[in-house]
Amino acid sequence: MLVKLDDNYFTKFRDLIYDASGMTFTEINRPILDSRISDLLRQHGNITVGEYFEKVRKDSSELNQLLDSVTTNLTSFFRNLTQLNSFKNEVLDDIIKTRPSKRLKIWSAGCSTGEEPYTLAMIMSEKLGPAWNIEIVASDISFTVLMKASEGFYPANRITGIPDDLLRKYFIKSGDGYQVCDKLKKMIRFDYHNLKNDSGMRNFDIVFCRNVIIYFDQVAQQNVIRNIYNSMNDHSYLFLGHSESLLGMKTPFEFVKFGSSCLYMKKV
Ligand SMILES: C[S@@+](CC[C@H](N)C(=O)[O-])C[C@H]1O[C@@H](n2cnc3c(N)ncnc32)[C@H](O)[C@@H]1O
Repeated sequence: MLVKLDDNYFTKFRDLIYDASGMTFTEINRPILDSRISDLLRQHGNITVGEYFEKVRKDSSELNQLLDSVTTNLTSFFRNLTQLNSFKNEVLDDIIKTRPSKRLKIWSAGCSTGEEPYTLAMIMSEKLGPAWNIEIVASDISFTVLMKASEGFYPANRITGIPDDLLRKYFIKSGDGYQVCDKLKKMIRFDYHNLKNDSGMRNFDIVFCRNVIIYFDQVAQQNVIRNIYNSMNDHSYLFLGHSESLLGMKTPFEFVKFGSSCLYMKKV
């Protein structure tokens, strides 16, 4: 049964989720919150909304489960090819010139079920070869998607977008899907991280935070962008989703355009 939150509980849950993560619910996406909370009430043996709210307020693991369930995890392999071509051709070419140590640190922030970091790992393996030491950190606020990502198994209908030669090289056919090979898996460290907080991680050369801040209001976006900026190297690049931008935001990032792809640079 679908429970419709009354205005009082809608405000309470909305504020709790916002304060904990930056994810912003408005009247427009209120039905999503109704639907996810209805599922959670059922999973908790049909307790009342008030009882559930108290649980979430008092218990951080309940809060994490709520945050996990309200995330939107839509993703795909080789998502936004224009951006990925700029990453491969312009950004990597520029970055590798300035890294004599042959070490690169990349962050897929809000990695969902892993398609983005595995895509980046394939592109870098192809472009740079074994002489480079590549570390990819892939993080998300949802434990559910992180489990799927680290498992690295994708049903056949999810692997569309991967060029055939790369599919053959980096995946093993298994049952009705494909398993990511160990070589690719070893390049990526999956980690829980809430972008509202400073990760403490530093020296990233390239950060992908695509289709994540679109779910935040401007105050929360500014906070996430500041945290990301602090985690980056002095000469480094940030990719946002194609419908996201830092326009109107006070940030030290410089806007860069390669062809039709827009990105941001930290220049110190
Ligand atoms: C739509 S997916 C984008 C996946 C991938 N970056 C892409 O563009 O295909 C957004 C992801 O951001 C994550 N997310 C939302 N709020 C977050 C937060 N505060 N901290 C970390 N991850 C968050 C969600 O769990 C979700 O997996």
